[in-house]
Amino acid sequence: MDRVLEVIRKRRSVRGFKSDPVKKEDLETVLEVAMYAPSAGNRQPWHFTVITDGKLINELSARAKAALAADRNSPYQQRAADPNFHLFYHAPVVIIVSGAESSRLAHTDCAAATQNILLAAEALGLGSCWVNLFLFAFRGEGGEDLPGHLGIPGGYKPLYSIALGYKVHDNWPVPPRKKECVTYIDG
Ligand SMILES: Cc1cc2nc3c(=O)[nH]c(=O)nc-3n(C[C@H](O)[C@H](O)[C@H](O)COP(=O)(O)O)c2cc1C
Repeated sequence: MDRVLEVIRKRRSVRGFKSDPVKKEDLETVLEVAMYAPSAGNRQPWHFTVITDGKLINELSARAKAALAADRNSPYQQRAADPNFHLFYHAPVVIIVSGAESSRLAHTDCAAATQNILLAAEALGLGSCWVNLFLFAFRGEGGEDLPGHLGIPGGYKPLYSIALGYKVHDNWPVPPRKKECVTYIDG
């Protein structure tokens, strides 16, 4: 049990990855435990796209950056214009979590599956980062064809993405946590 708590506390958003490929069995484990997430009515309204094709990962990053850079309302507009900024921090693996449009709580269920992936990654000695800016890749030119290229089944839409790989170092900053968010009602 201590180990579970340690993994939860230790997980950080990792924003720098080695180029080494992730072991196939580790990838399979991460996906297997994703599917053990709870889901409303046990509908399991998720689909996972696992991308290890570096060219495609770079293309997704470039597409999202182009759409972000063109968005004057985005706080990330300036960041997206930086040629050194890679949306997935050069991770060798990107997992896209898509949700069934027919399922009202797909967002919630897929978020639970995504968190399982982040925790499993940490337990296996991998780094991960939840990257939602990837959704901009679907907004730009040709974005409507992207779900098909990514093998996302009809009736599902991309919701979340995870950058995954070996960490370049193990000292990622711990953003401070709010403490005033608990109410105890004692009997
Ligand atoms: C829904 C969601 C979307 C996020 N999107 C991004 C993102 O696009 N890029 C990124 O670098 N981090 C992203 N993050 C990571 C958060 O910035 C990070 O979780 C937060 O700063 C707390 O840091 P920690 O994960 O190390 O505890 C996202 C996290 C969540 C939950």
